[in-house]
Amino acid sequence: MSIAGKAPDEAYHGHLAQVFAQYPIDVLHGEGVWIHARDGRKYLDFYGGHAVAGLGYGHPRWLAALERQARQMAFQTNALPIAIRERAAAKLVKFASLGLDTVFWINSGAEANENALKMAFRMTGRTKAVALEQGWHGRTAAAGAVTWGALEKWYGFPRRPFDVSFAPRDRPEALADLIDRDTAAVIVEPVQGVGGAYDLARPMLQALRQRCDETGALLIFDEVQCGMGRSGAPFAANHFGIAPDMLTAAKALGNGFPVSALMLSKRVARELKYDDMGTTFGGGPMACAVAEAVIDAIESESLLANVRTVSAYIRNNCLVGPITGVQGLGFLLGLKTSRPAKEVQAALMEKNILTGTSGDAHVLRLLPAYIMNERHVDQLCDALAQIRP
Ligand SMILES: Cc1ncc(COP(=O)(O)O)c(C=O)c1O
Repeated sequence: MSIAGKAPDEAYHGHLAQVFAQYPIDVLHGEGVWIHARDGRKYLDFYGGHAVAGLGYGHPRWLAALERQARQMAFQTNALPIAIRERAAAKLVKFASLGLDTVFWINSGAEANENALKMAFRMTGRTKAVALEQGWHGRTAAAGAVTWGALEKWYGFPRRPFDVSFAPRDRPEALADLIDRDTAAVIVEPVQGVGGAYDLARPMLQALRQRCDETGALLIFDEVQCGMGRSGAPFAANHFGIAPDMLTAAKALGNGFPVSALMLSKRVARELKYDDMGTTFGGGPMACAVAEAVIDAIESESLLANVRTVSAYIRNNCLVGPITGVQGLGFLLGLKTSRPAKEVQAALMEKNILTGTSGDAHVLRLLPAYIMNERHVDQLCDALAQIRP
């Protein structure tokens, strides 16, 4: 059965751009890891609003931060200093502990990557970027240019704004030819999200770092999906022990409130001049207040430890029914499926469990909230065991 068909109520589509296939769940409200639908069904959510709802739905700390900040000062331009903007940046820098101690607040993952790439081109004066096969970085002109397969599928612009080469994600030996002294930036997701929750091997990331150091190219980690605790560490960079020159974060950073961050090393930050980057909404007090609250919650509720424990539990218990293997890190996991992942996803949805698919037709993606526990996973495993391989 295909689930990417009709919406529950076609009336919903009257005025919306028809660019998203719809799951047949008419959402009413959410609490924790649960989505309540209008027809009374209650879904266990392993999809997390596409990796956004890291704290789950209605987290009290997140709600309180939004309310407090809305009452105090809902918005203020970057031209006026406001304490929460600086405080949230300091909190993010400390949380990451990667030596990336300058933050540019922005609104979305693609925008953060767009600015990271621009900085790399400006700093180096070079003409080329390198990305990885199966990588995904967003839908704007530069972010789309480094997204694998975009040109063929949806890019839309007449040409890319710069030259791009794609490296195989599992062949460190190919990097020497691809990354050279014309390369301004190398952009990678340490754990590819859309690419199938695929965790790059440590030697691959080490080789990327080394080749960037040899050639002077800037290494950008796109941690829009795998960052902000999802890997079981603050960022996947911490897990691998490799620091990039720039890092982008979004999605779980705001737990549903739009906010992203571009984090810069000292070497990059030193090059900044007024007007190099800009934004109206980025660094808004509401966005900064929720980012601060998200980090507070992750730290005070030991959510990274929970992600690691429950991730191991998934690995140990979910190899049932159509599941033949597990890849990924923390709560960005790819369950390899013997049947097309879409079919497994549809069968799970029948059993009131929501999961994601990916760019790999045989990988089912799990991106749950960091509060997910073993009992929730038991429900997933029981449901998977009932699906024919
Ligand atoms: C790794 C990665 N980078 C960038 C993006 C783009 O983020 P946004 O949709 O917020 O622009 C995504 C979105 O799925 C992503 O997964």
